[in-house]
Amino acid sequence: MSYGAFFYPSFVYPKIIMVFGSALKKVGGFFLPRRYIQYKNLYLITLKINQMSKKVDPIKVSELEIHPAVKEIWQKKKVEFIKYTMKLTGQENPIYVVKRKDKFYVVEGVVRLVAAQEIPMEFLDCIVLDIPDNQVIDQRLRLNQKSKTHIKETCYYLEHMLGLIGKSQGKKHELMGFGKFNDEEEFGLAGKDRYEIACHYTGLDFGPSTLRKLMKIYWLEKEDEKVAKLELLEFIDRGELSVDKAHKHLMKRDKKIKDKEEREKRDYEGKSTKGWYKLFNKSSLDLSDLEDGSIKITGFSPPYEGSMRSYRHQDELKHGQEKTTEEYIKNGMEFLKALLPKLHMDAVVFIIIGESYKGSYNSVVSRYELALREIGFDIIGVCPWIKENPTPVKLKEFFQPADEKIIVCKKIGGKPTFHPTLKPLEAGGGEIELKRSRDGKNGKSNYYIGGDGTSITNVITTPVFNHNEYKDIDPSFKHDAPSPKKLYEIFIETYSNPSDTFLDIFCGSGQGLDVALSNGRNAIGYDIDPLSIEFCEKRLQKILNNPDIEIGVAA
Ligand SMILES: C[S@@+](CC[C@H](N)C(=O)[O-])C[C@H]1O[C@@H](n2cnc3c(N)ncnc32)[C@H](O)[C@@H]1O
Repeated sequence: MSYGAFFYPSFVYPKIIMVFGSALKKVGGFFLPRRYIQYKNLYLITLKINQMSKKVDPIKVSELEIHPAVKEIWQKKKVEFIKYTMKLTGQENPIYVVKRKDKFYVVEGVVRLVAAQEIPMEFLDCIVLDIPDNQVIDQRLRLNQKSKTHIKETCYYLEHMLGLIGKSQGKKHELMGFGKFNDEEEFGLAGKDRYEIACHYTGLDFGPSTLRKLMKIYWLEKEDEKVAKLELLEFIDRGELSVDKAHKHLMKRDKKIKDKEEREKRDYEGKSTKGWYKLFNKSSLDLSDLEDGSIKITGFSPPYEGSMRSYRHQDELKHGQEKTTEEYIKNGMEFLKALLPKLHMDAVVFIIIGESYKGSYNSVVSRYELALREIGFDIIGVCPWIKENPTPVKLKEFFQPADEKIIVCKKIGGKPTFHPTLKPLEAGGGEIELKRSRDGKNGKSNYYIGGDGTSITNVITTPVFNHNEYKDIDPSFKHDAPSPKKLYEIFIETYSNPSDTFLDIFCGSGQGLDVALSNGRNAIGYDIDPLSIEFCEKRLQKILNNPDIEIGVAA
């Protein structure tokens, strides 16, 4: 029973019309409100009454034509589906026509007329409207009046039409062809006809792959309240996300969860794996003790250019005390040339290096980068390291420098491990959710999957070394230029796995070696200074004696 009839039994109709008679206007057999905004509800009621009271007549299809005003605006549509259902169940609803001389002209129901002509059918049920030609379009619009179905409701209809209700997940996937998820020609066991009819009735102009994506989102939203929290279907319904985009977000979320699990596993392995270490008190210009291709990750800070620091026991090369920057770079490359054969094909090298400003600005970092390229390295990227508490250096015509650079490179053609270090979680955060970024082109919002798992940027901000970092090992030991452990942590965790071998060719106080060994990597250190090596020996022994490290790895 229709809405109007339910609330207003038939004997009441004339009264309603009588009471509001002055507000209504008879237009072609329809009582339409004079001020339809004011009498909105009443308008709906009267429209229903009129429709219900209309007589349905079977009219010969040969006597029907599209009304010229409608013909002008009507867009050709597929009639296959409607033909199929009209053959199957007959004509469900009458079409609306006007009569002019001996002909009937269709105002609403053109697709059914075309289908009937093609089937062919002899008669179509029609309601004959008594309206002038100048009201045909207006009437067509009113008859077409529908509200948009929410996408969740549409999904429910799709389940029905594709025969998925009550089926197991496996069966549903078979019916929908999930096996070839992205294939637009794959219609699953449901078959092409069923797929297309389902799309037609739900008004979705989708291929099978998009339909699979939509249903996947729909099912996951129902099953997993964390997916439901993303509200992807709401975004689709509001037209703010396409099904493809929403599905991509879902995939990104899955990847973030998988990455998180792997990260936790790696961290656990790192903390519980017992690696080994080797120390060499000699110049790293000679790395002949190492096996070729054995080093997975190397990180070091070469002696600063321009004798900025005073290191003990330097060799004849006195790297860092060269007279010119050219010489400094040339010597620096000798160490890297010796290193190259020792590196695994997919190894990563990170070099913590600062400018010297000796005499003037010497472009040390840029020159170092170019020289690295020349001897066969590929630069992956360069990270500015911003020092939170820089050592005061006074320059004549420039600000106090508070940065160094970390050059990250690999062998040409190498494919390094990469698990980016993640940003610390926002307070109360950690949930993977759809976040809105700034407005994109055309003023449209952009969305991304945020929360746990977002990579840090390349700008690293951390304080310079603090002597407390190793005072418990030997408070009397001093080194002139230790690098903060934080830097080593970021690069070792990002570019290597537990059991990989880490090398620091200028290991100094052993900050890098400490991080590597504490995280289940093997550590090899070279330094020309015996005191530094002695100190490293103590601190690495201490790590290996830690009873928390359980699993032994053969050296
Ligand atoms: C900038 S410091 C490295 C500090 C180290 N990253 C740390 O965290 O303690 C440079 C180190 O290179 C060492 N060194 C200088 N020339 C060397 C050479 N030819 N072979 C090996 N080490 C050398 C110095 O003794 C000094 O300890």
